[in-house]
Amino acid sequence: MKTKKRGMKIGILTAGGDCPGLNAAIRGVGKTAILKYGMQVLGISSGFQGLLEMHYHELTENNLSGILTLGGTILGTSREKPFRSEDGIESAKPDKIIKNYRTLGLDGLVCIGGNGTLKTASLLAHEGLNIIGIPKTIDNDVWGTDVTFGFDSAVNIITDALDRLHTTANSHKRIMVVEVMGHSAGWLALYSGLSGGGDVILLPEIKFDINIVCEYLLRRSRLGKPYSIVIAAEGINIDKKKKKKISAGHYIAKKITKITGLETRETILGYLQRGGTPSPSDRILATRFGACAVELMAGEMFGQMTALKDNLVVPVPLADIAGKTRRVSPEDQLIKDARLLDTCFGDGKTGIQ
Ligand code: F6P
Repeated sequence: MKTKKRGMKIGILTAGGDCPGLNAAIRGVGKTAILKYGMQVLGISSGFQGLLEMHYHELTENNLSGILTLGGTILGTSREKPFRSEDGIESAKPDKIIKNYRTLGLDGLVCIGGNGTLKTASLLAHEGLNIIGIPKTIDNDVWGTDVTFGFDSAVNIITDALDRLHTTANSHKRIMVVEVMGHSAGWLALYSGLSGGGDVILLPEIKFDINIVCEYLLRRSRLGKPYSIVIAAEGINIDKKKKKKISAGHYIAKKITKITGLETRETILGYLQRGGTPSPSDRILATRFGACAVELMAGEMFGQMTALKDNLVVPVPLADIAGKTRRVSPEDQLIKDARLLDTCFGDGKTGIQ
């Protein structure tokens, strides 16, 4: 790696859905940049919108103090996608971002985000800006890294919710359907399904038959099981022919009630999964990503994303991950392990060979 540059002026922004750990990452970037490399750090507000509108403030040791444990992002975020054309007309926003980047005199920009943000970051790098990406999302669906921060915190939140739902489902002898986030990937449903003792786990990546699910639930009932827990990822494939958009949790609960006659209720966890303080694991990962991002910046290794590979933080070219989504493989070892406990994925396969 080239000799590390000192005294650079860098920007940092957080974009896309928020998650626990963002402030830990901001702190990791800021403290490494200021204390180790004597850099000036500008915190850009509200993601790429802040670059368009030139909303920013300097980050210092003082205003970085005490944010490690804070949920959300002190910079704010938005889902601004500057390269998105409107009505087929090419957007003028990228040119404005490039112009403002130069006006601010930035030597580099750290973009913390999920798939959409990292794609924008890759496009800006292609336009010649010195970009480093940091992957974050509760969905854990960023290609090129073993895990993103935000995911572990969300699994903890869902697991706590499932522990609570077991007791009320048992009291009322009910089927409890829990819808979790994850966008088009099933990582949250899979991991929380195991950690929270789900009997049925429905993933976007495994085609399920609701009649197989219902037969499984009826069998459990006939065996005297007082209740069952069904985890449904929000991105599962449900009957889209319905006029009004119905959520996965509501759809599955209605189907189970109708087919089995068993008393069923649903809980949509929604934005609870994105709130609150980061787990210790996410604090550590976010801090490591932040520090590595500055190392790459100081070494002028631009156009990279920090990634976790076998517990090492390594750079991965943004161009290699842009536009991709990391989904659960139906052959994932956790699915095989869950099947050994007779967990139902709705596809009729059992773990017993
Ligand atoms: O990407 C994180 C996420 O929470 C997804 O799991 C969810 O589908 C989406 O964001 C919700 O988007 P918004 O915050 O824009 O409603």
